Amino acid sequence: MDSKQKSKNYFNRNSSTFINRNGYWNHDYRITSEILRRRYVMNLVDIGCGNGAFLARYHSVSPQTRLSGLDLSREMVQRSRERVPEADIIEGDAERMPFDCDSFDAVSCHMSIHHHPHPERSLKEMHRILKRNGTVLINEITGPAWMRKLMNWCFTRWNTGDHAIYSRPQMEQMLTRAGFRNVKSTLTTPFTYVCVGRK
Ligand SMILES: C[S@@+](CC[C@H](N)C(=O)[O-])C[C@H]1O[C@@H](n2cnc3c(N)ncnc32)[C@H](O)[C@@H]1O
Repeated sequence: MDSKQKSKNYFNRNSSTFINRNGYWNHDYRITSEILRRRYVMNLVDIGCGNGAFLARYHSVSPQTRLSGLDLSREMVQRSRERVPEADIIEGDAERMPFDCDSFDAVSCHMSIHHHPHPERSLKEMHRILKRNGTVLINEITGPAWMRKLMNWCFTRWNTGDHAIYSRPQMEQMLTRAGFRNVKSTLTTPFTYVCVGRK
């Protein structure tokens, strides 16, 4: 079974008990919401939106922004629809998004890219659906090289669909290769970061 199918199964089974249901990553969301809020985005899509924790937070700080979400797991989509009825949430794959080109002012992706077997495809898709000058924001897990190596090895043994975590320079390089400019990352905690770029 490939890691995408494993992700789908894992999150379908665990949608109601997933660790972030009570805002495990709220600290990071505070930072990412503030970055996006300062850019006055009129519409935003959160990729791999899970149970809608980030969308709910963003709606509370910027109620005028039109929100969309996309997730591979049918059950997670259901949870986020219940949690953020104002948002338009659909089931789909980040590597082949069902959105038109040049549609959004901002694309965010919180703690999901490490599940994507071909992250470069997801990033190209994010670039395609963004309007010119639009913002991409990736929030992810990282760690020293030995820890990333160990975790990436563990992922091959787990059934959670986790695929790989990256260093900040690796993520910056991937965004730049996908066509983004002004790419810059900063640590949000010792083990998480945010990487932001413009189309
Ligand atoms: C660790 S959870 C994070 C969820 C949410 N973003 C949060 O911050 O709580 C990863 C999410 O990414 C979704 N996901 C994994 N692979 C995906 C893909 N290829 N396309 C869209 N969503 C995906 C999973 O279904 C899951 O809901």
